[in-house]
Amino acid sequence: MSRLRVAVVFGGRSSEHAISCLSAGSVLAALDRDRYDVLPIGITADGRWVLAPDDPTALAAAGSELPQVDPGGAALVLAGDPTVKGLVVLDGATSPPELGSVDVVFPLLHGPYGEDGSLQGLLELAGVPYVGSGVFASAAAMDKHHMKQLLAVAGLEIPPYVVVRAGQPAPLDTADLGLPVFVKPARGGSSIGITRVDDAADLAAAIDEAHRHDPKVLIEQAVAGREIECGVLVDDDGVPRPSTPAEIRVTGPQPFYDFEAKYLGDATMFDIPPNLDDDTIARLQDCAVRAFRALDCEGLARVDFFVRDDGAVVVNEVNTMPGFTPSSMFPRMWAASGVSYPELVDRLVKDAVRRGTGLR
Ligand SMILES: Nc1ncnc2c1ncn2[C@@H]1O[C@H](COP(=O)(O)OP(=O)(O)O)[C@@H](O)[C@H]1O
Ligand SMILES: [Mg+2]
Repeated sequence: MSRLRVAVVFGGRSSEHAISCLSAGSVLAALDRDRYDVLPIGITADGRWVLAPDDPTALAAAGSELPQVDPGGAALVLAGDPTVKGLVVLDGATSPPELGSVDVVFPLLHGPYGEDGSLQGLLELAGVPYVGSGVFASAAAMDKHHMKQLLAVAGLEIPPYVVVRAGQPAPLDTADLGLPVFVKPARGGSSIGITRVDDAADLAAAIDEAHRHDPKVLIEQAVAGREIECGVLVDDDGVPRPSTPAEIRVTGPQPFYDFEAKYLGDATMFDIPPNLDDDTIARLQDCAVRAFRALDCEGLARVDFFVRDDGAVVVNEVNTMPGFTPSSMFPRMWAASGVSYPELVDRLVKDAVRRGTGLR
């Protein structure tokens, strides 16, 4: 079999640009160069596609400085034309001559314009197989409102919530949620724009803050309990399997698992596996696979839960392209389940090739 050409696409227009670069540095380092030709493609913060250096260290954090896509590389476009099946160089003079068709894309992007089905739509048009969920599941999982509707219809427990659209008053049943509540952008990530509200007097400001990120906002009842995550990975036969779960414990001063607790310092402890009884772990794993199926996910997902104080398993959200640095929860949970980081990357590429594009 000839070597596969894998394009790792990273960066992008969302607020999670830097996290995506960190993930890409790790994936570039892990891809087996004996079997894959690797093409690193950065998308700048303003949406320009450029050829990036094949240098994982350029995408590592330098102290507190986070990496970003260097806009200086040769400009590229991915043609939405299946007869081209690849990348077209806008600036022919400076590009390496072998740049051309691509066998698989690893869309290592988080948030809007990457994890939300838009890039997946372009790849479908282009007929290029890609890692992870398709257009529908990506879009459904990105929108916390529609995601929760699909999860609820599948019989999974979710926290009660209401939707508030910009320029419209909060619905009358907001008060039924009680306090505290979490106010969040419908299509956000990394806890950006999220506020925990303990006092009704602070609700309007929290809604305004979330609306700065998204005209559609959720007010959600706070769940009193523990925060647990579980990976899902499709096996060689296309069957989704759950990982060992992990508990997230915020031990710093942060009021919840907010941006700071996620990325800065060591405010958070992770227990893999969580200190839970076998029955609860089995229920979490079962719910993770059910949530994956409820959204028609493919390839991989990280399903995030609360285990309520009364033992109930409540789904918080499904991430179709979870963080992928070696210290990210998804690879760590799989490492604890016996799947190393390079093997994980390899299985995802193989799964993308197996599925191909189009209806399947
Ligand atoms: N209903 C809730 N009850 C308790 N904590 C919540 C709730 N919703 C959000 N949180 C806290 O806020 C964090 C971020 O919320 P989440 O909905 O996962 O958004 P994001 O997509 O930005 O990660 C969660 O990890 C959790 O710590
Ligand atoms: Mg989350």
